[in-house]
Amino acid sequence: MSGPSAGRPPFPVGWFVVARFDGLPDGALVPLAAFGQDLVVGRTASGRALVTHSVCPHLGADLAAGGRIDDYEVVCPLHGWCFSHSGACTSAAEGPIPETTRLRVWPTELVDGIVWAFNGRDGEQPDQPPPALSLPGDLVGTRRPGHPEDALTGMLTSVGVVDGVPADEAPDAWEGSTADGRRATVYGPGTLVVRPGQDTSVDVVVHVTPVDGFEVEVRTSGEALPTESVGGIESFSRWYRRFDRSTTLGRRPARTGRSGRAGR
Ligand code: FES
Repeated sequence: MSGPSAGRPPFPVGWFVVARFDGLPDGALVPLAAFGQDLVVGRTASGRALVTHSVCPHLGADLAAGGRIDDYEVVCPLHGWCFSHSGACTSAAEGPIPETTRLRVWPTELVDGIVWAFNGRDGEQPDQPPPALSLPGDLVGTRRPGHPEDALTGMLTSVGVVDGVPADEAPDAWEGSTADGRRATVYGPGTLVVRPGQDTSVDVVVHVTPVDGFEVEVRTSGEALPTESVGGIESFSRWYRRFDRSTTLGRRPARTGRSGRAGR
């Protein structure tokens, strides 16, 4: 296998940032490309968020093309079938409800105005919540080539981190340090908190989300850090393997339909 994910599952298992809540319109389903899937993300007026597959399990309509969400259901725009936030079909227009028809939903959490989605096996529930890290600013994402591990490695090495250890105080966190005593902490498979230079007093929070196995979306609260990997960090790479659990999403990179059409 070749490409940026060579030798690794392209979509690590864990929590990833997918949107800022106040950037979503009430009740609408917005297209989202992540984890090699065409997804939608929606918010309700009362403050709930949900990430689902974009394809209606009835006859395949794109839920981003006019689908709606409220506190109880997701409604398909084509024939009006409804699905609960857990994915069960709750209404099939005039017909009987098909009990085995489900909309795939991703475990979704809203933390300090940030929408997180858990990428795991189909139906897998996370055993811990996403890290409680806010991200001030506009949360504008930029696409970069590569795997999340490589993007994180690139940013760590760019600020001078050469080694580190699993963090004591937080599960699934890794703590690196620079020669001048600055710390850089990676939370889960896609989040980095770092002080980029000695002359700065503010930490930068960076979220890296896999798009399709070829690109990642990088969202940062401050200055953009280089994601090109210049050398590796062996202890970080070893630690990161914990997120490589095989998933039903497949081990091969795959461009998604919508993102593939839009970008290439
Ligand atoms: S395709 Fe969604 S309800 Fe028919």
